[in-house]
Amino acid sequence: MSEELIRVEKIHKNFGVTVALKDVSFAVERGYVYGLIGENGSGKSTVSSIIAGMQPATSGKMYYKGQEWAPVSMLHAQEKHIGMIVQEAGTIPNISVAENIFLGHEKLFQKGLFVNKAAMEKAAQALLDKLEITEFKAGQRAGTLDMQARKVIEIVKCLYWEPDLLIVDETSTALSYEGREFLYRVLKMMKEQNRSVLFISHDLDEMMEHCDRLTVLRDGVLIGTLEKSEYEPGRIRQMMVGRELQGNYYRNDMDPYEEEVVLEAQCITTMKDLLCFDMQLHKGEILGIGGLSHCGMHTLGRALFGVDKVIDGEVIAGGAKINSPKAAIARRIGYVSKNRDQESLGLSATIAENIASTGYRINELFRGIISFKKEAKYVDEQIESLSIKCAGKNYKVNTLSGGNKQKVVIGKWLASDSQILILDCPTRGIDVGVKAAMYKLMYEMKKAGKSIVLISEELSELIGMSDRVLIMKDGKVTAERLRTEGLSEHDLINYMI
Ligand SMILES: Nc1ncnc2c1ncn2[C@@H]1O[C@H](COP(=O)(O)OP(=O)(O)OP(=O)(O)O)[C@@H](O)[C@H]1O
Ligand SMILES: [Mg+2]
Repeated sequence: MSEELIRVEKIHKNFGVTVALKDVSFAVERGYVYGLIGENGSGKSTVSSIIAGMQPATSGKMYYKGQEWAPVSMLHAQEKHIGMIVQEAGTIPNISVAENIFLGHEKLFQKGLFVNKAAMEKAAQALLDKLEITEFKAGQRAGTLDMQARKVIEIVKCLYWEPDLLIVDETSTALSYEGREFLYRVLKMMKEQNRSVLFISHDLDEMMEHCDRLTVLRDGVLIGTLEKSEYEPGRIRQMMVGRELQGNYYRNDMDPYEEEVVLEAQCITTMKDLLCFDMQLHKGEILGIGGLSHCGMHTLGRALFGVDKVIDGEVIAGGAKINSPKAAIARRIGYVSKNRDQESLGLSATIAENIASTGYRINELFRGIISFKKEAKYVDEQIESLSIKCAGKNYKVNTLSGGNKQKVVIGKWLASDSQILILDCPTRGIDVGVKAAMYKLMYEMKKAGKSIVLISEELSELIGMSDRVLIMKDGKVTAERLRTEGLSEHDLINYMI
């Protein structure tokens, strides 16, 4: 058995009335990738952030390298070689990549009163080169980069401090294919150097492949730990949710869609990514769109909702031109952004306010009056049907776990009578139970004659749910496939790369 790097013992954490962790104990050995898995709100981020010095435990003890461990801040932990890639976006947009990497450590480059930015940039660029990252440069402003690149910055930032323990909290779902490959290289490197990783993800296949050991949390309680030889998807899921789940969550019908076109992109060109792009969405259709991170699919979603400006061509829905989110909402179009914290949520507003905003209010306005009693009932229904884990609907959204925030965004649009939904990575960070519920909802919407554009980085999801799949590369469609029995991930990947 190899040396123990960190041990947490009988950790408790309360947030007011919410008990986030109850008596949690486990240890991570050197040279291991240790997985933490559990439903949304089960306590994964909380326990990780306690180890990484972001917040203290209510009670319990920790030991790191054989000594008691009571970090006072994230910087403290970093200096002691514990680094964490947090679930939520951790980069600051209006400063450079280099400044993000060395945030809090500017004194390294301080000369008198000034920070030598050129030296800082050089050091950051050297690090990027060493890790073979060519996607962006150290001098670029972080805000100009996409989500995947910003996540990569966070990984690099952690690696600079040569962590003995690297905590990766729900990072893979923010990455697409290339980013994930980079992350897996990092995991391998950590192991080879006899260092350890605490890895969190909702992707069960990924967890089983990359983790040497898996611990399951449920409602803040440690349910059990499995060795690699004991992995079995059904068993892990059962431990997570406390009951058996059916194996296949996707739809298994071959139901057609109608001929009527409800949303159309007519030779649209955007500032970046798309050049004379055509697309048609039909009534009752689930149109899947897949590709690598820069293929243009996220831009397409934004353009269809009127967030990204179309500089040539037109987006048309029901005869009307869609050139702003307001126009889109007026045509009963809903949009779930991949970048939920920045684009889809009011973080300092309450859960109820978020759910009842935009879609719901506008629909009620169509009918003339807003009934607050009805609104409250609607909010309750959404919290119930999406099983949003919260202490109450009047708590702020930023007290929710990552996956539960995502559910709030979905709740905002789903039952608000949107006729067309544009979903960009809607199941990102959502646990299996809720995923199954979401897929069921999507199918029900289709059956009710509503239409969905499903932009996703998960091929199995695209194949499992779509009536038709478009694969994009460099802003163009490279393959179009109808729903058939034999459609394989392999076939689609070939058109992405
Ligand atoms: N600052 C906070 N204030 C109040 N409650 C909180 C706070 N942070 C976390 N919680 C609660 O603690 C519980 C555990 O949350 P945590 O973020 O650890 O879950 P998680 O397992 O990481 O979930 P996910 O998979 O959705 O990211 C949740 O019920 C959450 O609402
Ligand atoms: Mg979390």
